[in-house]
Amino acid sequence: MKTNLLIAAGALMALSACTGGKTETCNLTASGLDPQKFVDEYRGDSTALFVLKNANGMEACITNFGGRVVTLMVPDREGKMTDVVLGFDSIQAYYPETNGTDFGATIGRYANRINQGRFELDGKTYQLPQNNYGHCLHGGGDMGTRGWQYRVFQAEQPNDTTLVLTLNSPDGDNGFPGNMVASVTYTLGADNALNIAYEATTDAPTIINMTNHSYFNLSGDGSKPVVDDVLWINASNYTPVDSTFMTSGEIATVEGTPMDFRTPKTIGKDINADNEQIHNANGFDHNWVLDTKGDMTACAATLENTTNGIRMEVYTDEPGVQVYTGNFLDGTVTGKGGVTHPQRSAICLETQHYPDSPNKPEWPSVVLRPGEKYTGHCTYRFTVTPEAAE
Ligand code: BGC
Repeated sequence: MKTNLLIAAGALMALSACTGGKTETCNLTASGLDPQKFVDEYRGDSTALFVLKNANGMEACITNFGGRVVTLMVPDREGKMTDVVLGFDSIQAYYPETNGTDFGATIGRYANRINQGRFELDGKTYQLPQNNYGHCLHGGGDMGTRGWQYRVFQAEQPNDTTLVLTLNSPDGDNGFPGNMVASVTYTLGADNALNIAYEATTDAPTIINMTNHSYFNLSGDGSKPVVDDVLWINASNYTPVDSTFMTSGEIATVEGTPMDFRTPKTIGKDINADNEQIHNANGFDHNWVLDTKGDMTACAATLENTTNGIRMEVYTDEPGVQVYTGNFLDGTVTGKGGVTHPQRSAICLETQHYPDSPNKPEWPSVVLRPGEKYTGHCTYRFTVTPEAAE
């Protein structure tokens, strides 16, 4: 057996107790997961669950399968810990043989779409899997051409608040050139932030655009739509799409369109508007061009559940954010606790470069060359808002 796990003390503790028998003797996570249900071998590599905790009791459970965030427990206005992401309670449910979802995943090599799965670099044309309306979505498909969300990462947990996941992606992986070493580091901050840092290097010219694909439902109840949550996006422009979700190359103003979230509004307010972009994407499934322009200290977006007071702030050094309102969820996937997820029962805020950037030389570059280091950052920070006055 090829083992690629380096389990540090904290993770071993988390993995040790559930030896079967009664659940009360099990060492369940605060979110109620049984870490033993994540111990497996997938295509020769070992999977596990890693538990990060900060001093405030915030907890993130992450598996090295696809670098996926499984649960994220944050306090609501009353201090009640609430799991704000969709996921599954066993590792097998994440396998492409069972579910083709991107719940919580680390996406690579290229998050979002590349037109016809083709791009040219230094005069050479590369063909990637065409797994979405003829385009390449999220680096490849599930069963045949597994993207990174279905790969087993090497894991190292140096302390209670940090997890480092590393992946070796060989030259020609899903058609992408260059041997690449990529990593994602999750850190829980004392300020109730989940910090995500990406790094990658290559031995030949290639492209890279990593993101996290957590499906957020701040109410903690994944059986309910998120349309009443209030969204603010710090963006004056977005990239329109055609009916195959491919960006036209235009950078369009949000002014006077349903895409204008510069003043906070509920996700649901304009989600069914009679608007070509809404029709094309079946809701919101677009890349916003952030006004933060790579400034990590400026807030890129906020999402708020006014009932329990949980508020998420998004910070990134990336130029864009893909906002996807779970339009393809249809109640057929059974998540944690046997809950099924209807349409729009979650929202993804995927910080990244713009879609199809490899074919848009005028946009911020996604090219990585030998000797360079790719880095990208995303922070999801949680606070609470006071109850609105009657
Ligand atoms: C895309 C959606 C897609 C979803 C699948 C999002 O990033 O924009 O169109 O259905 O990922 O995970």
